[in-house]
Formats: sequence, C-alpha cells, structure tokens
Amino acid sequence: GAPVKADISKIEPGAMIVVEWRGKPVYVVRRTEDQLELLDTVDEFLRDPNSEVVSQQPEYVTSKGRSLRPDLLVIEGLCTHLGCAPTFRPEVGAADLGGDKWVGGFFCPCHGSRFDLAGRVFSGVPAPTNLVVPPHSFEGDNILVVG
Ligand code: FES
Repeated sequence: GAPVKADISKIEPGAMIVVEWRGKPVYVVRRTEDQLELLDTVDEFLRDPNSEVVSQQPEYVTSKGRSLRPDLLVIEGLCTHLGCAPTFRPEVGAADLGGDKWVGGFFCPCHGSRFDLAGRVFSGVPAPTNLVVPPHSFEGDNILVVG
C-alpha cells in the first residue's frame, strides 16, 4: 500500500489523532513533558521495557520512548493479544483499569492489557509484546508520513 500523509500541526500536547494506513488504525500522540518523564518510572513493571526481546519497531526507532521525535508517538492501534483497538487512557491514576503501577497509556477493553505511552506492555496481561511502531518519517515539521 501507498504511504499515508497526515498533518500533525494541530495535535495538542497530550492529545491523539488516528490515521488509517493499510486498513489499520495508527495512533499519533503528542506526549507532554510530564508524560515523557513517566516513561522512565515504569521499567520494572514492563515485560520488555527496551524492546529488545521482540523489537516491534523499525530499526531506526531507537529511543526509549520508541519514537523518532521525542514528543510524537506513532503506533499501530492494534492490541498484540488478539487485535482489538486499545483505548487512549493517558490520565495518571487510571488504576481502576487494573494495576496500581499503571500510570496511564493505552488500555485494551477486550481482555485488559495495559500499555504505557510508548506502547510498551505491562507484565501480567494477555498481550505478549509491545505495540507495533509502523515505518514512518516526517516531511518538515508538520507532515507525518506513515509507510
Ligand atoms: Fe487486547 Fe486481548 S485483544 S487484551
């Protein structure tokens, strides 16, 4: 399939848009400074915090936050358990959705898998691996190219 372009200039800090690519939803999140700091606090609760057991991302995506740009997460909205669409639940303290170490991120409504705001899966949930980062690049500051 052809690459898809999306204007990312209007995504507010802390907000998400969905881009369709190859029939799949791709979530694009502009993470806040506070949200980025949280990524450093949860490693011990994650199954594969450094995405080294199963990569699930292009080789050029090497940062801890699993993104090319620090703020901008680009990730497939398909749970790695059975493919449901995880919901965007970035609020800190969403512990009612399971796990008092979960600081918000993505929550799969089908069987309760939890991911952080880098799409990294928490231990003890059905999803076996982190969410997939699709191939992507940028044109200038405002255009995301997926594919
Ligand atoms: Fe997401 Fe099962 S499909 S937890």
